[in-house]
Amino acid sequence: MRSATTRSRRSGTEVTPDLLSQLSERIVGQPAALEAIVPYILMHQAGLSPEGRPVGVFLLLGPTGTGKTRTVEALAEALHGSEKHVLRIDCGEFQMEHEVAKLIGAPPGYLGHRETVPMLNQQKLNAVTSERSNLSIVLFDEIEKAAASLQRLLLGVLDKAVLRLGDNTTVNFERSLIFMTSNLGARGMSREMRPNFGFQALAGMPRQTVRRKLESIALTAVRKRFSPEFVNRIDVISTYYPLSQEALFQILDHQIEGLRRHISNRLGARAFSFEVTESARLFLLEQGASAEYGAREMKRVVLRQLTQPLASLVARGRVDAGASILIDHKPGDDQLSFMVQSGEEALAA
Ligand SMILES: Nc1ncnc2c1ncn2[C@@H]1O[C@H](COP(=O)(O)OP(=O)(O)OP(=O)(O)O)[C@@H](O)[C@H]1O
Ligand SMILES: [Mg+2]
Repeated sequence: MRSATTRSRRSGTEVTPDLLSQLSERIVGQPAALEAIVPYILMHQAGLSPEGRPVGVFLLLGPTGTGKTRTVEALAEALHGSEKHVLRIDCGEFQMEHEVAKLIGAPPGYLGHRETVPMLNQQKLNAVTSERSNLSIVLFDEIEKAAASLQRLLLGVLDKAVLRLGDNTTVNFERSLIFMTSNLGARGMSREMRPNFGFQALAGMPRQTVRRKLESIALTAVRKRFSPEFVNRIDVISTYYPLSQEALFQILDHQIEGLRRHISNRLGARAFSFEVTESARLFLLEQGASAEYGAREMKRVVLRQLTQPLASLVARGRVDAGASILIDHKPGDDQLSFMVQSGEEALAA
């Protein structure tokens, strides 16, 4: 038994236990996307992925701050143990034809041939695998910004899992998950969602209808922007939806929980506990979430309104080990209030 486990670990195809629930714990309110992505990874882990193409090609669409990039990071955490195991290509840097040479290296004889180390090569692809998994996660962020020649190169990657570099060597993508994210259609989607923008009717529609409508807006935008060959080579096109108030609360609670873990890991015996009242949570939500930016600002708001004031109390020696802090918000204030109960008081209470 033991040798079988070791062998599978060495070959890098360890099966990730309950990948879907691991992802669902981190990504809130986008179950359809996760359910569509996971089977491709299981297929690879079972050794049944088709040969001669990437393990999966995914296009994630939808408004800003709804979890597209976070999904790719969460997958890297689940597969490799760290969100850093992603080869990320920011397509905004390759909008002009001449910039594409930075990615694949200039062909021999061209100016700069010797100096340009391609940003995308086999070593870089291999560097984002781990002992646990031989899958490389590649993320092409904001794909709609890529120059036409980059899209043509990608076509070969999606189709045959091969990219030919400037120096004529090739990169093999057969053990890769290719993610592309895009805001295509997002403006149209938010126009539909915003009540006073003429489409108020949507607000009262069943969620399923809203989803289908948003999906069709996103797909129409994709078909307008990319060739049919390109679209046909994508395994999953998934639309991320604007986050509901409930989902946003859940994301906030995850982040508060993350801060609790951080405090107990970092401070060890000097750690303290804290409670965030309902009105303080509402205040954080108001500051950190919006229809326009989704949950994008939440991390920054938690850092500024919770982590930094707590750190300042600790640094000024106001918090004993075992103390408990009540964090509240008074109407009209633009920051939270922190009431420290010493360790002994907290025990007595
Ligand atoms: N569905 C979600 N579940 C959990 N956290 C989320 C979710 N959506 C957003 N967040 C939080 O907001 C931050 C920004 O989200 P993310 O980077 O995934 O946005 P995005 O959809 O890629 O937006 P953009 O189109 O602007 O790139 C994340 O790092 C995470 O903290
Ligand atoms: Mg993103």
